[in-house]
Amino acid sequence: MTETHAVIILFGGSGDLARRKLYPALFGLYKRGILHDHFAVIGTARRPWTDEHYRDIICGALEDDSDYTLALARAFASHFYYQSHDVTDAAHYVTLKDLAQKLDDQYEAAGNRLFYMAMAPNFFSTIAEHIKSEALLAPNGFNRLVIEKPFGHDFASAKALNDSITATFHEEQIYRIDHYLGKEMTQALLALRFANPMFEAIWNKDYIQDMQITLAEAVGVETRAGYYETAGALRDMVQNHVMQLLGFLTMAKPAAMTPEAIHEVKREAFEQLHLYTEEEAAANFVRAQYGAATIAGTNIKAYRDEDGVAPDSLTETFVAGKILTDQPALAGVPIYVRTGKRLTRKSTQITVTFKPVGTGLFGEDAKASALTIYIEPTEGFTLQINGKTIGQAQSLMPEELHYQHDAQVTARAPEAYERLIENALEGDQTNFTNWHELAQTWRFVDVIESAWRKDNTMLTYTPGSMGPREASQLLAQTGSSWYWQPTRIQMAD
Ligand SMILES: NC(=O)c1ccc[n+]([C@@H]2O[C@H](COP(=O)([O-])OP(=O)(O)OC[C@H]3O[C@@H](n4cnc5c(N)ncnc54)[C@H](OP(=O)(O)O)[C@@H]3O)[C@@H](O)[C@H]2O)c1
Repeated sequence: MTETHAVIILFGGSGDLARRKLYPALFGLYKRGILHDHFAVIGTARRPWTDEHYRDIICGALEDDSDYTLALARAFASHFYYQSHDVTDAAHYVTLKDLAQKLDDQYEAAGNRLFYMAMAPNFFSTIAEHIKSEALLAPNGFNRLVIEKPFGHDFASAKALNDSITATFHEEQIYRIDHYLGKEMTQALLALRFANPMFEAIWNKDYIQDMQITLAEAVGVETRAGYYETAGALRDMVQNHVMQLLGFLTMAKPAAMTPEAIHEVKREAFEQLHLYTEEEAAANFVRAQYGAATIAGTNIKAYRDEDGVAPDSLTETFVAGKILTDQPALAGVPIYVRTGKRLTRKSTQITVTFKPVGTGLFGEDAKASALTIYIEPTEGFTLQINGKTIGQAQSLMPEELHYQHDAQVTARAPEAYERLIENALEGDQTNFTNWHELAQTWRFVDVIESAWRKDNTMLTYTPGSMGPREASQLLAQTGSSWYWQPTRIQMAD
């Protein structure tokens, strides 16, 4: 394990993401020795904190860590410095630069700088411009930018943002976060697909009936209405997380397990995403909002009655759709996706259903085999195959082979953010989205948004269900159905 030398400059150091995810992730890297003696973090935000207060905040953010001791947390927090800074004020960048240089010398950080934008996206361009104009880039070591989502709200805004950021950082220096790419089972997808000849050989339209991606949340909009009203399920979840999972499912085999080779095949996969016309988009995508309900004695408000939501809001809290790829190997294979809030339970899972054998040997008994990859909260997979009933008769019965990661091992595995920050410190871009992927996914989503703007239809669904009936009808058109129907027995979480 090599220790990385770096000064990390964190914009949004007092924010929710920093406290809940980034400080625990950096602590994880500290405990593993990836960050240890030769690093410093400068947290910036407007509120006038002292270094001491900031370090207390850092220690407070670590209390849930199973290895937490006050002494360890304090030793870690001693590497943190706070600078009160309004990112729109150029003068503050001069102080920031001086502090970064001083800490670089003090910690022998090798001139390496990691800039982390954990702020509202409308500040991303301003920060990047000032990093350049006030010469914050280190002349000798590496300069890398980690940037949070959302990256734009459509293709045009994403392109404008990208143009402004790339005026300061090259594509190879930009690490756009999609934390789904840091999840254990997302990364395991590549091993499953390319290290097992049995899957590799049948990963094509001759054998695959459809693929299904579900990202279900049980919670409602909670306190995020301000942001959510400007986004909706399509932009908030499909354009990024769902599409990234789809990229891993549909990409061809990379020539090597290197960032360049993986991005190359992923890029091809996104280039071959079938772009709909508006009419096709309207026919292949369904949107809905959750209505009101009483569940276990608790009254659940309808989305339009939530605080901060317009009573006539046309923001979808659920989306389901059919996506196609023009890649020859998978052409015509429907990829069904759905995501939403206030669904039956939280779960992210992917199912690949295979075509039934169709030899007639077993008649109607032969069921389609299915591979399900559980991404969260359960991590593991199941393979449903046809077995034989016990006894003389040659009749079939479905059998499910289960594999679930050991809970203790998973608990010790790095969290998504820890993995991703480690990757950024190592200069490994495999698990980050690049501009070509983003551009193409925005093009895809823009057509659906544009179709929806012309039709105000908004379905509703009952909280605790899996969305409106129309989401199932989408699949019924091809004789399929959602493999995951939460009334069925699931792997224990
Ligand atoms: N929270 C999450 O779980 C989560 C998950 C995924 C992605 N993200 C993304 O992460 C980013 C940050 O989200 P968040 O939830 O942490 O937001 P947040 O809690 O609102 O934090 C925003 C930060 O920006 C600072 N800030 C605001 N205006 C500033 C200015 N003019 N100059 C300097 N600092 C300023 C705030 O501190 P002051 O008020 O002291 O200035 C605060 O530290 C967003 O892009 C979000 O979409 C968040």
